Amino acid sequence: MDSMAVLVLWAAFSCFLAVANGLQTAGLSKNGSIPSSMAARTKQPYRTAYHFQPPKNWMNGPVYYKGVYHLFYQYNPYAAIWGNMTWGHAISYDLVNWVHLEYALNPTEPYDLGGCYSGSITILPDGKPVILYTGADTQNFQSQNLAFPKDPSDPLLREWVKSPSNPVIPANDGDIDPANFRDPTTAWQGPDGLWRVLIGGKIDGRGLAFLYQSNDLITWTRNEKPLHSSAKTGMWECPDFYPVKISGKNGVENYVETKYSTFVLKASFVDHDHYILGHYKAKTNEFDIETEDFMEGNTDWRYDYGAKFYASKTFFDGGKRRRILWAWVPESDTRADDIKKGWSGLQSIPRALWLSTRGKQLVQWPIREIESLRKEKVEIKGTELNSGSLIEVRGITAAQADVEVSFELPSLDEAELMEPTWVDPQLLCSQKNAKVKGAAGPFGLLVLASKNFTEQTAIFFRIFKNHDGHVVLMCSDLSRSSLRKEVDKTSFGAFVDIDPPQEKISLRTLIDHSVIESFGGEGKACITSRVYPVLAVGKEAKLYAFNNGNLSIKISKLNAWSMKEASIVPLTKRRKPPA
Ligand SMILES: *[C@@H]1O[C@H](CO)[C@@H](O)[C@H](O)[C@H]1NC(C)=O
Ligand SMILES: *[C@@H]1O[C@H](CO)[C@@H](O)[C@H](O)[C@H]1NC(C)=O
Ligand SMILES: *[C@@H]1O[C@H](CO)[C@@H](O)[C@H](O)[C@H]1NC(C)=O
Ligand SMILES: *[C@@H]1O[C@H](CO)[C@@H](O)[C@H](O)[C@H]1NC(C)=O
Repeated sequence: MDSMAVLVLWAAFSCFLAVANGLQTAGLSKNGSIPSSMAARTKQPYRTAYHFQPPKNWMNGPVYYKGVYHLFYQYNPYAAIWGNMTWGHAISYDLVNWVHLEYALNPTEPYDLGGCYSGSITILPDGKPVILYTGADTQNFQSQNLAFPKDPSDPLLREWVKSPSNPVIPANDGDIDPANFRDPTTAWQGPDGLWRVLIGGKIDGRGLAFLYQSNDLITWTRNEKPLHSSAKTGMWECPDFYPVKISGKNGVENYVETKYSTFVLKASFVDHDHYILGHYKAKTNEFDIETEDFMEGNTDWRYDYGAKFYASKTFFDGGKRRRILWAWVPESDTRADDIKKGWSGLQSIPRALWLSTRGKQLVQWPIREIESLRKEKVEIKGTELNSGSLIEVRGITAAQADVEVSFELPSLDEAELMEPTWVDPQLLCSQKNAKVKGAAGPFGLLVLASKNFTEQTAIFFRIFKNHDGHVVLMCSDLSRSSLRKEVDKTSFGAFVDIDPPQEKISLRTLIDHSVIESFGGEGKACITSRVYPVLAVGKEAKLYAFNNGNLSIKISKLNAWSMKEASIVPLTKRRKPPA
């Protein structure tokens, strides 16, 4: 339940001027209370500088757009722990700098007094947005509800009105478990004109996406069959369903059915966001999977293989013709420390997402706008990294940085043989951590490292031989990330679909004090981690490239930048939510 995302998209391209005025009124020119300077961060070493966060307390879940991007997120106005779920609301021109607005939805009605959980925004044919969200009553019975903007001409969409017809899909619908029935997707209209929406749930131990249809968004009928279900997953939260193009990086609208697109079904379960690809026919509501099913076989496709990337949603950015994914990144610190530092959770850097050229999986890359925060740059080119060596990347703020590196490999004849039992990349990464010498690798980056390496987080690769080529393993080794015993230091790993030595091994890593987002193989495998160093903070943090394998490798190119802070401005005169 601590995991519902709100995410949405709305395209319309007017109102930049009106919005600029709105930004002024919303407080862009006023001083913020977020600990923002390096000085403030000495008291708050884990506070991020360029990831989206509310000034304080608990947040999770994401969004959307209208000449402005709107982010709606799950927020607890009262504490840094989960509870009293409210819809926070922030707006941006560029998905990097944000202004917080008034809460969009507060728990006020019998059907949502227990919380306004996640949902989505749908843009109606007349261009007006509507929110579909889950309300939980005081018994935690979950129903689906509608809300409309009070003034649709307000580009900031500050005020929302709940529909008198709520709940439009009640908690007690036949055999549905009312405590496991939440997170409606954006609705889409099929060729028959009926709206369709998916809702996450669980029946008889099967996780599933219920499919509902309606001609007016008020009266909904459950489709006999769910869109898809699985006995291996447990409850599905935050389902997401959208088309991607078969070739190219452009995104497509929320619902387009052509032979040039394939559909992605994502579900959040067991701490991760998993997806499958397939063909969808709205006429019959059939979804034929083309990949291995959730948790079947050896391929478990995840957006991100770290622990901390959950309840994500995508939206189609009509202005830039791209599909954007982002997710809630929770803490790995203790609950007591979350309360002590006064906040918990943040939003990942938004990522553009498309289908890989091999057509088997999704590829993700941080949105270009984030590069506007880059300042001092250091470059390393054509440098040999011999076995057991490392080089420091100096001259940038290593705790607040963006790093891109690509490695060139020699012949891999001496690479170790991949054992057939090595099917779990995470397990392999924890057995063969950054200190375990191999033939080809470990090599990669050491980030948030302290002066004498007592603290260090390694993001690295290893290459193995198998019967038909090579296997590339990417790891995020947190075992030495913090001297603190009580924080979660589980390591994570993924196999990356690249073919060395013909293809270079590349890594992009965004470092922001307590969060590290890494993109291997140009975005084919992503690993997000939360780390809580005590020595490697602020100016004490260091950055290295290393090679701890037998084979010497070459850094073809390494570019690293200090990152500026994003401007995330609180609303100075936020209306008090009802007590
Ligand atoms: C508020 O911001 C302005 C301009 O950025 C600055 O000159 C001023 O000192 C700030 N005031 C406070 C109280 O921080
Ligand atoms: C927040 O939620 C808790 C537990 O549901 C409830 O006891 C409390 O009254 C709520 N706080 C406010 C200010 O609504
Ligand atoms: C690394 O090289 C040493 C010395 O040549 C050799 O003994 C060892 O087996 C090699 N390790 C691997 C994993 O290939
Ligand atoms: C590393 O530095 C820390 C802090 O200065 C110190 O406590 C620790 O003993 C040092 N470790 C080693 C191995 O030198």
